[in-house]
Amino acid sequence: MDVALTTRLIGTGPRAAAEAADHLRAGGLIAFPTETVYGLGADAANAGAVARLYQAKGRPAFNPLIAHVVDLAAARDRAVFNPDAMRLAEAFWPGPLTLVLPKTRACDVTALATAGLDSVAIRVPRHPFAHAMLRAFGGAVVAPSANRSGHVSPTTAAHVLADLDSRINLIVDGGGVDVGVESTIVACLDTPTLLRPGGVARETIEAVLGHPLAIATSDSERPRAPGMLTSHYAPRALVRLDAITVAPREALLAFGPPLAGRPRAMLNLSPSGDLVEAAAHLFGHLRQLDADGAATIAVMPIPHYGLGEAINDRLRRAAA
Ligand code: TXA
Ligand code: MG
Repeated sequence: MDVALTTRLIGTGPRAAAEAADHLRAGGLIAFPTETVYGLGADAANAGAVARLYQAKGRPAFNPLIAHVVDLAAARDRAVFNPDAMRLAEAFWPGPLTLVLPKTRACDVTALATAGLDSVAIRVPRHPFAHAMLRAFGGAVVAPSANRSGHVSPTTAAHVLADLDSRINLIVDGGGVDVGVESTIVACLDTPTLLRPGGVARETIEAVLGHPLAIATSDSERPRAPGMLTSHYAPRALVRLDAITVAPREALLAFGPPLAGRPRAMLNLSPSGDLVEAAAHLFGHLRQLDADGAATIAVMPIPHYGLGEAINDRLRRAAA
């Protein structure tokens, strides 16, 4: 299923940021140094590129990703900052803090990268190369750690190469990283809540806020393991999986040649049966069919290999 790519390894020379930005514009995948760990970047606004990113990591689960932006202004285009969020951004950006915030209406981070949630995780990295690349690219870059799923986060370009050679377009070798653990994640949706400990100590954050952080409880937002969340996008409609027929009062989420019948609404994840294309459309199509108002969304069977495994995982959660 996977297409072998030629992975170029370059240093952080004067042309590196422009070359990385070119790959991002073309929908490519690039590994780059940040101050925490190496990230695997894709254009946050390009659903196809984000789908390929999940595929490159292997055993994909469509966990929501962090959008990396060049500065606070770029972050405010995409996320709504309450006073606590402003205080934290001013104190810790650029740096190893990620804020989970409500998306703005104009937010261009594709629904696949936010796992269909109304919130977006956003951070301004302080690594000089990451900063130069974001400046050269001009948009948001989603980047999970640049390792195969289930492996530890990479802190050198050699770690990245060992995991992702021939699965991504470019690795930018910036030497060793500074922090070595991932960013601290704080949600500022209502009460500021620690979602993941990381590169900024909790005490330091609490000193800026002037009060303790809430800790997410295990059955709500708290990641069960790094990168795993139990919260997920839930449609209002009933979701009926593995549909082999469709009724006129139902909406149909098709995959490949659609079922016979006249559903009240129909969107196709991939008319040609391509799982990468299907992943790119998953959350957007679900939302659109849900908004159409059908009581039930019938979903055609999705094969259970490649990105199909993650698509089926998300569909099962949506149906639960
Ligand atoms: O240091 C870092 O943060 C690195 C570098 C590359 O920047 N990135 C990183 O990304 O660690 P990743 O994908 O491994 O972790 C993203 C975390 C996941 O635990 C995910 O569940 C959480 O962010 N997350 C993303 N969006 C979220 C949202 N809307 N609500 C709650 N959690 C979210
Ligand atoms: Mg990770």
